[in-house]
Amino acid sequence: MCGIIGYNGTADATPLLLDGLQKLEYRGYDSAGIAVYDNDEIDVVKSRGKIEDLRQKIAKGHVPHGTLGIGHTRWATHGQPSDDNAHPHYSASRKFAVVHNGIIENFAERKEELLKKGYVFHSETDTEVVAMLLDENDCGDFLRTVLKTLSQLTGSFALGVLCQDEPETMICAKRSCPLLVAVSDEGNYIASDITAVLAHTRHMYKMEDDEVAVVGKDSIAFYNTDGEPIGKQLETVTWDVSAAEKGGYPHFMIKEIMEQPEAVRNTFSPRITEDGTVKLDDIDLTDDMIRGFHKINIVGCGSAYHVGLVARYVIEQLARIPVEVDLASEFRYRYPLVDEHTLTIVISQSGETADSLEALREAKRLGSRTLSVVNVVGSSIATESDDVLYTWAGPEISVATTKAYSTQLIVMDLLAIRFALATGALSPSAAAEILAEMEKLPGKIEKIFEQTDKIERIAESFTFLHHAYFIGRNIDYAVGLEASLKLKEVSYIHSEAYAGGELKHGTISLIEPGTQVVALCGCERLVDKTVSNAKELMARGAHVLGIAVEGNTDVQNIADKVIYIPETLPVLQPSLEIVPMQLLGYYTAVARKCDVDQPRNLAKSVTVE
Ligand code: G6P
Repeated sequence: MCGIIGYNGTADATPLLLDGLQKLEYRGYDSAGIAVYDNDEIDVVKSRGKIEDLRQKIAKGHVPHGTLGIGHTRWATHGQPSDDNAHPHYSASRKFAVVHNGIIENFAERKEELLKKGYVFHSETDTEVVAMLLDENDCGDFLRTVLKTLSQLTGSFALGVLCQDEPETMICAKRSCPLLVAVSDEGNYIASDITAVLAHTRHMYKMEDDEVAVVGKDSIAFYNTDGEPIGKQLETVTWDVSAAEKGGYPHFMIKEIMEQPEAVRNTFSPRITEDGTVKLDDIDLTDDMIRGFHKINIVGCGSAYHVGLVARYVIEQLARIPVEVDLASEFRYRYPLVDEHTLTIVISQSGETADSLEALREAKRLGSRTLSVVNVVGSSIATESDDVLYTWAGPEISVATTKAYSTQLIVMDLLAIRFALATGALSPSAAAEILAEMEKLPGKIEKIFEQTDKIERIAESFTFLHHAYFIGRNIDYAVGLEASLKLKEVSYIHSEAYAGGELKHGTISLIEPGTQVVALCGCERLVDKTVSNAKELMARGAHVLGIAVEGNTDVQNIADKVIYIPETLPVLQPSLEIVPMQLLGYYTAVARKCDVDQPRNLAKSVTVE
């Protein structure tokens, strides 16, 4: 999410920063800016749009000259893409300038305190709070001022900071967002990833959480957050530019699968209060309004529709509000029964999918209140809906969605809990229990990654398949639809998902010796039923891969192979169950030598009907 570069050396900083930002553009591209130390002042230029727009603004206007500077390319989280929301952000006194990746979770509380003290904000970003805090904490010592500010922040960040009193120094720090300090003959760099500086150097220090670096023109000193010096090892990377963009992974799809713990955390954590309740203060729905809805309609396309199918089970179970789920392309033409007592939720990663946008407009025309769950800030669906909840997954490059799907599930779970509290179907303590379990999901996803090698081996056995069938019941069936889509869209193996109970009504005739079936058995309540279905298929020669919750031996007893996922609450199981399925699809496609990130005939954003 977002890209950072900084330079301190002997060359002209502006072209170096702009070239570095260009390399980082894949990380975020809605606005960009630079701050250069120019003649005793920090000169900031920023622009909405791509790096090219920033270049043109600089070329047409004033070109900052200096040998110390920081730059940023943004993927909006707090606030629309705009000149004002672009980074770097000045502090009130303009003594400090800051670039930031990540999400400051306590920014609202800090901002309120600062507003009371008379600080005036010029942007809607969480980052500007960091800049203002630097002024507030300014003790005349650059490092101490930064350290004090860091101690007041919660959330995730990679930060680059300039100070007017320090023409020879920049400071950077990180927590849960990547950051490195690179060393070249013409000076030192900071960067969110090595891509930005590969043209100049391959030598870098990888920063760890809660480390701070004071970067001079020919010196670098590292500290912990107590200000104690620490030693670090210089590393040399051998990646080429394309590998570097993918963080060393061979494809964006696997990089994005691996980013899911962070994406889930970023989407979940800022919406939880210190006392453990859900706070969706980005939307204007009151309890009365929620209680007034007779029905919720969810629409989306592709994986977003699959999220809706999972959410139906979760919302109906927790909040006891009836839910209908439609493919956006069907909804818009089916004369839907929607009125002012209906809430229509549109789910979309891009926020630009033509059918989803038209479904939203149709719902609005019929008088429904609309809420969108969107990843791209300022997109059409986000702008046109009454309320929007953003999934803070960061840019998703691979056509097959993974981290956007996972963060959409999280937002829908949070909404279900919010609705359930409003309807009274869930007590605050029961809600707190679910939220506490949700907090553990990123760690549990990481645990699934420990089985990556095993899943890769299983995927090899899928290489020459012509067909695969996914079965499950209820929420497992909803996950099965997404699992099947993941496999077919990237590996081109024909696959279908079936509700376990439907097999006998036709599909079972397709089963012959060697047919591959994946049995999703995460739903504790119905695991026996799915196991029985799997047995029936095995009796007809099918090979069964089981997906089961740790400790469930029933599945092990019947399936050829089993992938275990950690235990969580049944309503949250999809967030874990889908992860091995994404890995299975990915590694099968790799084994079949498919173009994983850009499967044939598909587009990331479908803006035509
Ligand atoms: C395309 C993508 C899918 C996505 C669908 C909906 O088909 O390949 O991954 O689920 O569009 O896109 P949206 O941006 O609306 O989520």
